[in-house]
Amino acid sequence: MSELKIAIQKNGRLSENSKKLLEECGIKFSNGISVLKTTARNFPVELLFLRDDDIPQYVEQQVADIGILGENVVFEKNKDVTVIEQLGFAQCRLSLAIPKEDKYEGLGYFMNKKIATSYPHILNSFLKKNKIIAEIEEISGSVEIAPGIGLANAVCDIVSSGSTLLTNGLHEVETILKSQAVIIGNKNLGPEKQEILNRLLFRIRAVKNAKENKYILLNTPESAITKICNILPGMKSPTIVPLVEKGWVSLHSVVKEDEFWERIDQLKAAGAEGILVIPIEKMIL
Ligand code: PRP
Ligand code: ZN
Repeated sequence: MSELKIAIQKNGRLSENSKKLLEECGIKFSNGISVLKTTARNFPVELLFLRDDDIPQYVEQQVADIGILGENVVFEKNKDVTVIEQLGFAQCRLSLAIPKEDKYEGLGYFMNKKIATSYPHILNSFLKKNKIIAEIEEISGSVEIAPGIGLANAVCDIVSSGSTLLTNGLHEVETILKSQAVIIGNKNLGPEKQEILNRLLFRIRAVKNAKENKYILLNTPESAITKICNILPGMKSPTIVPLVEKGWVSLHSVVKEDEFWERIDQLKAAGAEGILVIPIEKMIL
């Protein structure tokens, strides 16, 4: 039986979280000595550790069947692959940054300047769209030092925490695009590989849903149940368990992580007490 070949970043911002995601899906990898390839012990997949910049091409050529990488690289490389799923981690943006002592009054700043970047295609179309004529200096790494060593006037690079810009005396002035980790896939996966991919996606979605939701338990007087159910739509319908104290129940449901604080305030106002919020490990809808 053939295995699904998954390309992930060898070293960098995405590597740890990519491995972690697969582990959270219950996939166990033998710690072989080879640093380029490893096979799972309990699921038909093989991991290939590659430079993220090469992943789109390898997926297009089916050296790998799918790949986990940043949307930034997917857009830049513009290969013939399918974006299968957004993963919600490795959020960052591609931005223009200039020396911090320079005043910035708009895109006109870049007119006839030299911009260092590893994203020449994205930058070129951004400049074109905004009718800015500037020179693009393509470099493959350590872009942030370019202004400091006199190679360029500005940079166009990935910003995540912003600390790289800060330590290099640069400040961010324009965001060109926002990015997160995604799964891309070859367009011609055979039925067998597609089947493995579907099983993997089922698990990935369960892990993602679990992270986006919390399990919530609270005590409420029976008279407030309807009101509280309206605040907490839950998965289907909340569970109600009677308390020893007459007229009171314990209500269990699920709440979205990003709506969490807002809901808590509403719940308290509706009469809920003893609210517990618990992380969910896996969530299958
Ligand atoms: C980007 C960028 C910076 C760093 C910014 O590299 O080139 O080095 O991340 O992060 P910070 O704002 O948190 O300091 P990336 O992870 O895309 O790696 P790569 O270009 O080497 O593939
Ligand atoms: Zn890279």
